[in-house]
Order: sequence, then C-alpha cells, then structure tokens
Amino acid sequence: MNFDWGAPGRIRFGNGTSSETSAIAATFGGRLFVVTGRDPARHGRLIAALHAVGVVGSWEVSGEPSIESVFGGGEAAAAQGASVVVAVGGGSVLDAGKAIAAFARNPGDPMDFLEVIGRGLPLRALPLPVIAVPTTSGTGSEVTRNAVLSSSAHRLKVSLRSSDMMPRVAIVDPELTWGLPQSITAHSGLDALVQLLEPFVCLRANPMTDALCREGLERIGRALPRVLSHPEDPVARAEMAWCSLAGGLALANAGLGAVHGLAGPIGGRFPIAHGSICAALVAPVTAVNLEVLESRASAPLTLTRYDEAMRRLSGSPVSDRHGLVPWLERLVAEAGIPSLASGGVSDNAWLELVAAARSSSSMKANPVMLEDAGLMEVLRREAAGTDG
Ligand SMILES: [Fe+2]
Repeated sequence: MNFDWGAPGRIRFGNGTSSETSAIAATFGGRLFVVTGRDPARHGRLIAALHAVGVVGSWEVSGEPSIESVFGGGEAAAAQGASVVVAVGGGSVLDAGKAIAAFARNPGDPMDFLEVIGRGLPLRALPLPVIAVPTTSGTGSEVTRNAVLSSSAHRLKVSLRSSDMMPRVAIVDPELTWGLPQSITAHSGLDALVQLLEPFVCLRANPMTDALCREGLERIGRALPRVLSHPEDPVARAEMAWCSLAGGLALANAGLGAVHGLAGPIGGRFPIAHGSICAALVAPVTAVNLEVLESRASAPLTLTRYDEAMRRLSGSPVSDRHGLVPWLERLVAEAGIPSLASGGVSDNAWLELVAAARSSSSMKANPVMLEDAGLMEVLRREAAGTDG
C-alpha cells in the first residue's frame, strides 16, 4: 500500500478553461516565457491574452525536443528574467517547457542531470514554475515529472526527471483538441490507452493509480473508438482529454512497462511519433507478457489485472484476458497505425534496440522480467502483423 503521490498543485479541467491561462499566469510574477509548437497561431487568442499579461520571451518547438534546443531555451528564459514558463502544445511542447524551466535555473552542463547518458544528479535549484496547457489528448505530460529529450549523439531519447519538474498548474481544455488531424488523434489517443494499461498491470501500481486506471480504462474503451469515428463529438473529445490526464497521473505515480521501454530507443533512432510506436507495440507486448505470466506454475495476480483491464476496456462483464490482444489489434488497425517497418525499423536494428531498452526506467516496472529473447519476440510479432 506504500506510495508516493505527486500532482500539480492545481488542475483546471473543462471546455473553455484555457481562457483562464493568462489570469493564472499573471499570479506567477507576470514575466511569461511562452513555449509553443510550430504554429502558435492555432491558439492565437490564448497567445494574445498571454501577451497582454507580459511575455518576455517565446520559444517554438518543432518535432520532439533535443537536449541542445531546450538548454538554449533555458538560457534564453534566464537571460530575459522570466518568472514563469507557459507551455501550450502537444507532449513535445510541454516536455520542452518543463525542461526549459529546469535549465533556466540550472545552468552548466546538462549532462549532470540527464538519465542514462548523463550523471543523473538531482537538480541544484528549483525550476521556474510551469503552467502546462495540452492541445492533444495523449501524453499526459501536463502532470508528469519528466521531460523526454532526444540526444542525436547517442541516438536515444532520455528523460530529465525531478519531482520539482511537476507543472504547478495544468489547464486541460478539451476544446483545444477540436479539429486535431485524424492521425494525431489516433496515435496520441492510443498513447493515452497504453498509459492507462501499463500502470494498471505494472509492478508499482498502487491504490491511487488503480483508481484512475480503472475509471480511465472504462472511459477510453468507449471514447477512443468514438473519437476515431466521430472526431467532431465534443463529449468524446472531453472524455479523451480526461483519460489522457488520468494516464499521465498514473504513469507519473506508478510506472509503465515494456511498450514504453522499447519506445524510447525506437523513437531515438527513427523519426516515428511516440504515440505511433506505442500503438504498434501494445498488442505484441501484451501477448508476450501474458504468455510469460501464464507459463508460470502459480497464476500470478497480474493475470487477473489483465482480465479486469479487458472487462473495463470492452465494457463486457464476461470478457477476460484472452480477448485483450485481438481487441487491441482491432483498435490499432481501425486507427490506421502504420507498422514500425514503414518508419524504417528493420530487423537488423532489433538487437541494438533490445540492448538499449534494457536500461530504460519503464522496463523495470513491466509486470514480468522480459529477457532479450522476449523483447525480440515482441519486435518479431509487430513486424509479422496480426498473424504473429
Ligand atoms: Fe507514452
């Protein structure tokens, strides 16, 4: 029952809540450093309201953020005397905002603080406060304590992580996701699903994250197919925004598993969106996890978790884990998720990917210890498609 719970001091959720961003930002010193994606005009009214409060600098993130770019952003925010970072965008933008806020107060060598490739030391000083305003429903980055950054030199994605990096305020306005392109809705929505499933079956699940995952799996089982077929449905959009938020809180306070363990190295080497990688891997990882668990003499408790996950996702009280992999495969196919091979992941990269995945923090929470052979089997099945 032991757990450590972390969340933003305030979560504002609901249609129209993003209009409060400028007033909330004004309470954090009024010197705003604004981080957005490539096309800030998409949220023109919100950005204009921030300028009315006082913007001392802004930073546009294109693609997934690199260590060098966010370190530069941190230097800029510090040089301009920013009092708060306001990040408005998808997961990459929110991660960039959190890293910029950390580096603004922690100059020097970024390698001091990075996991895996760096020294992983704690931050020396508190980051600038962050207000996170997600515009997609998927990553949950508005409520997590890490920022995923790419290192081109190491061909890896690694985390800058600190409990002090939790945003101070998360403003989750489902209206900001209206009109998102279908492909982004699909792969970010499947990322949200994986972020409810992996924490629910992982080794560090606790009663707080269980509560979120149980509710989230039920809601996303209905909402994700609905938003894929009816992207204009505001109720489905709001459900997805909540599921993304719940998944973010769950992963930040429990952990993930082999889907995310493999997604880091794959995303570091191949230009494939994070959610698309997770979507491609969720059925094969679930299949291999279940086979390893079922091969054990005494049926572990985790198997009943998979039964429950399937009942909640499908809404069918008589379903169990045996239907889960086909259910996931069908949803991923309906979402139009491309294979990893179409993103350039060929079998001659597998050994290197598996070796890199071993040291990821997510892999340690997977419900079973997957040896290299198990991870190779995951990649083989993904490449083989549903025929496995
Ligand atoms: Fe994810």
